[in-house]
Amino acid sequence: MKAKTHTTGQEEGSQPTEMETKLGKLFEEELRDIYWAEKALTKAIPKMIKNASSTDLIAALETHLTETEDHVKRAEKVFEIIGKTARGKTCEAMEGLIKEAEEIMEESEEGVMRDAGIIAAAQKVEHYEIASYGTLRTYAQTLGLDEAAAILEKTLKDEKKADEILTTVATSAINLEAAEEEVSE
Ligand SMILES: [Fe+2]
Ligand SMILES: [Fe+2]
Repeated sequence: MKAKTHTTGQEEGSQPTEMETKLGKLFEEELRDIYWAEKALTKAIPKMIKNASSTDLIAALETHLTETEDHVKRAEKVFEIIGKTARGKTCEAMEGLIKEAEEIMEESEEGVMRDAGIIAAAQKVEHYEIASYGTLRTYAQTLGLDEAAAILEKTLKDEKKADEILTTVATSAINLEAAEEEVSE
């Protein structure tokens, strides 16, 4: 017996339109990309935590690591909704952003300067995620995948919040101290 697919949230029996089929494929590709990215981040964020000095920054990264672990599980849930096996596909953009973060950490002096670099790198990551989840949520809505859209929206909110917290950490302490250090040199 052929399994019924849920790619488009179509009513049983009705055929998806060509546009829905193509958008469904794009949705799956984008989901595989972010799934790979989230899993990579569960390994990259602990390295950032190890390299950070500011307690505020460490706390922000620790909170977001827990959230990122949830994002992996939520992406798996979305795969389940569309009836596909959870399978990541190397996200070259995220691979590059993580590599850049590692370079910043290696090349910068420990303390405020490295913290400022970690924040900059982490915010680039958040912005990539915000763009991806915004797109995925909109595709899900278009495809009538309401439950998936709600899950993706939840993650999107976490990413936006993480980005805001990083901005607060940066403006409240690190950037100020980094500037002072430069002036006093
Ligand atoms: Fe995430
Ligand atoms: Fe994130």
